[in-house]
Amino acid sequence: MSRHEAGDHFIGIDVGTSAVKAVLVDSSQEIVAEADVPLVTSRPQPGWSEQHPDLWWQAAQRVLASFHEQQSALMARVGAIGLSGQMHGAVMLDSALTPLRPAILWNDSRSGAEAEALARHFPDLARETGVLPMSGLTAPKLDWLARHEPALRAKLAMLMLPKDYVRLKLTGACITDMSDAAGTWLLDEARRAWSPSALAALKISESQLPRLVEGNAASGVVLPALAARFGMGVGVIVAGGAGDAAAGAVGIGAINDGDAFLSLGTSGQLFVTTSSFRPAPELMVHAFCHALPGRWLQMGAMLSAASSLAFASDLFKCEVTALLAEAETAAPAGPLLFLPYLTGERTPHNDPDARGVLFGLTPATSRGEVVRAIMEGVAFSFADARDCLERSGTSITKAGVIGGGARSPLWLQILSDVLDLPLVRYDASARGPAFGAARLARLALSGEAPEAVCTAPKISGRVTPHQREVAAYARRLPHFRGLYQALKGEFPHLRHQD
Ligand code: XUL
Repeated sequence: MSRHEAGDHFIGIDVGTSAVKAVLVDSSQEIVAEADVPLVTSRPQPGWSEQHPDLWWQAAQRVLASFHEQQSALMARVGAIGLSGQMHGAVMLDSALTPLRPAILWNDSRSGAEAEALARHFPDLARETGVLPMSGLTAPKLDWLARHEPALRAKLAMLMLPKDYVRLKLTGACITDMSDAAGTWLLDEARRAWSPSALAALKISESQLPRLVEGNAASGVVLPALAARFGMGVGVIVAGGAGDAAAGAVGIGAINDGDAFLSLGTSGQLFVTTSSFRPAPELMVHAFCHALPGRWLQMGAMLSAASSLAFASDLFKCEVTALLAEAETAAPAGPLLFLPYLTGERTPHNDPDARGVLFGLTPATSRGEVVRAIMEGVAFSFADARDCLERSGTSITKAGVIGGGARSPLWLQILSDVLDLPLVRYDASARGPAFGAARLARLALSGEAPEAVCTAPKISGRVTPHQREVAAYARRLPHFRGLYQALKGEFPHLRHQD
């Protein structure tokens, strides 16, 4: 078999928070196998959120083993693997490249004080690193480590991002891509290079950080013993890949200036591709490198989107689908308000202390009304993000929707009504960051033009705003905003009690 024929299938692996999800994609971009391995998050202290890097590696091996079992002939035709992953996590390794401790994740709010100190001491850096230093980002966690676990900080030989630990195990190399490096607060986003000023601020050297490549470039090859174990040939490339937000964008072809979408995953993002670096840190906008060279993005990042519904499902001990059916029966824009700040919030508040709030309960409140209020609260927080982007000069006139939450027609209608925005929904298979990662793998092997591969997937539905609800939600939005403002000073008192 020629090299080309041997390499016409691609794997995308997304190291998510709730699961490692993977797809095997053929040469016509059809998904021929899928595998998911769930992950658990530890919360050893209030506000903390951790996963051990070895959990990701075990899960990644299980998805590869599952593909080998399901499709052994096709595994022999895999030419490249792309990685996507939860962003901002701090994976801290010693000089033997062994984890010093569990990774501190994107939704961990322990380093609020360190983030505030960075903002105070280095007020100009946010315009270079694309975002204010917020507690979920990687850099403030380094200062937290120095303050609270100094012996470990002294042993830190390599700081990397979650998906890059899987790359290290697959290839032996310490490498990250621009779009994931972008979320560390250590990257000069305009130059697409580590920022000497940010590195000095965090007292870390370039030798303690992975080498940077573009998402569609090769970063190494799968170690021969592993390739053999999973039925792959020699020389399978591992592409740079992307942070999950940018990988999701690549998956739906949101790679050109102005392409916008909402991601309703565990977290939520309002994402717009930009053709230049457009920082607006004062508005809590995240302006980062995209996964492809010469492209950037702006994003409003919310910490609890579909996880708010997962929370309701745990609380009520009831499947999400049953809860959604009950929510259908509740009236829109009712008196209940929900602030979806279960683990703090980045856009628009940069408030690690904020927590979830359900406001307006009466003895007559039904479970369906609570669930509907939760969905509306997430939608209101997307409206806040849209406002931040608009104030930075970026307007959105239509958007796609991806992520698990996009499966709910009710949620899509609520979002369309709250945002007064037409939304399109894509075929299920193409919606995830794993698919975007598989596309980056293909680009790394083939060298094709991104536009030829990163096309928009089939649209499976369109939602347009209902003007009566648009008006009702527009009347509720100021109250949603007012509720946070009224409670803002109270949240810090919860710090030692949650
Ligand atoms: C983006 C963000 C989340 C994580 C986890 O800024 O924090 O999307 O990447 O999915």
